[in-house]
Amino acid sequence: MNKAISGFSKLSKEEKIKWIANQYFSTPTEAIALLKNYWNSDEKIQKLHDEFIENTITNFYIPLGVAPNFLINGKYSTIPMAIEESSVVAAAAKAAKFWSTRGGFKTTVINTEKIGQVHFIYKGDVSKLNLFFAQHKSKFFSETESITTNMQKRGGGILDIVLKDKTDLLPNYFQLHATFETKDSMGANFINSCLEQFSKTLKEEAHNYNLFTETEKEIEVVMSILSNYVPNCIVRAEVSCPIEELEEKHILNPKEFAERFVQAVQIAEVEPYRAVTHNKGIMNGVDAVVLATGNDFRAVEAGIHAYASRNGKYSSLSHAKIENGIFTFWLEIPLALGTVGGLTSLHPLVKLSLEMLEKPSAKELMQFVAVAGLAQNFAALRSLTTTGIQEGHMKMHLNNIINQFEANDEERIFIQKYFKKNTVSHSAVVSFIEGLRK
Ligand code: MEV
Repeated sequence: MNKAISGFSKLSKEEKIKWIANQYFSTPTEAIALLKNYWNSDEKIQKLHDEFIENTITNFYIPLGVAPNFLINGKYSTIPMAIEESSVVAAAAKAAKFWSTRGGFKTTVINTEKIGQVHFIYKGDVSKLNLFFAQHKSKFFSETESITTNMQKRGGGILDIVLKDKTDLLPNYFQLHATFETKDSMGANFINSCLEQFSKTLKEEAHNYNLFTETEKEIEVVMSILSNYVPNCIVRAEVSCPIEELEEKHILNPKEFAERFVQAVQIAEVEPYRAVTHNKGIMNGVDAVVLATGNDFRAVEAGIHAYASRNGKYSSLSHAKIENGIFTFWLEIPLALGTVGGLTSLHPLVKLSLEMLEKPSAKELMQFVAVAGLAQNFAALRSLTTTGIQEGHMKMHLNNIINQFEANDEERIFIQKYFKKNTVSHSAVVSFIEGLRK
């Protein structure tokens, strides 16, 4: 029977591994060997990774791939992508190549505002609270000066603080709703530090405010935290070309293709079941670049899906139209990203990815990420509306099965040749390999 353990975090890495191996594995030595096999031979690199989190026992690999030939605002880039899903990088590279001969991607950062809130409970006269806030607003700025000085030097800081009455939603619930500009940092630490200072100022000043009754003086701060919903931190990516230029091998009739493509996007705009999968395809590109560049993909996911529901119904993040013979396909997504601070200066592969992108500013990174999302969405819709998605997926799936069976070069050629003409399924490939080996 498994036992609970106390003081696990205090054990050495070796001791932790030993405990895990003995507790959960029938062959503990094999489990230990596997875990150690994934350690980095460079002790310095391994130590770095060990210290990212608590209780590290080994490294968990995800491939880092690259998609070259991305023409963005007239300049070529190669985009690094960290992802385990087999067809994603190939699809991005294909979409990049396709659009590179059709004007490339155009991007714009629309705005870059971040948000944080102090959530608090005030029991009393609302007009007095409004007066208190108006009289003390400047204090919230002055008392955070030690935190904001450096950010201000970089052109950022606190943009505004607003008192919000939320009592229609929850009794006695109010907020200090603050907006921030955090330049090249994602800004989580900066924002949370400012908010915690706002919270202190709020409680202290309320306590000393003569117009408040004793009850009104006792403001209760529930929590102070940034919001990962950033609907005013938006980037737009777009591709467009005359319909006839859409012609290529898979697209026999460009006009029919463009119309069907627009219909596919319209379906995702009106039908949430489809919208979720459609947007998942966009996130294949978004997350891969976000992860490779050391940003927080959970924050990005949460914010983007909330944005997709901003009109009360979950909908497509991308849109498409045909106007005067021009096909246009675009998306707008909220992205709070950083290219300084956090993991960006710690993780060697993150540093490498950022260097590959020519050390982008946060705004430039927003554009790369949006382009990766749009490219991915284009590739998925192009397959879905023409050959179907399985053709490409199965090609990659075939490779995975070949690898699983450790096929040699000669077998590999036979298998690939056979499945060019025959339908790929796991059992079909397995029995073909078995037949080949008999
Ligand atoms: C698979 O990871 C993503 C797709 O399902 C996206 C889509 O359906 O648009 C292919």
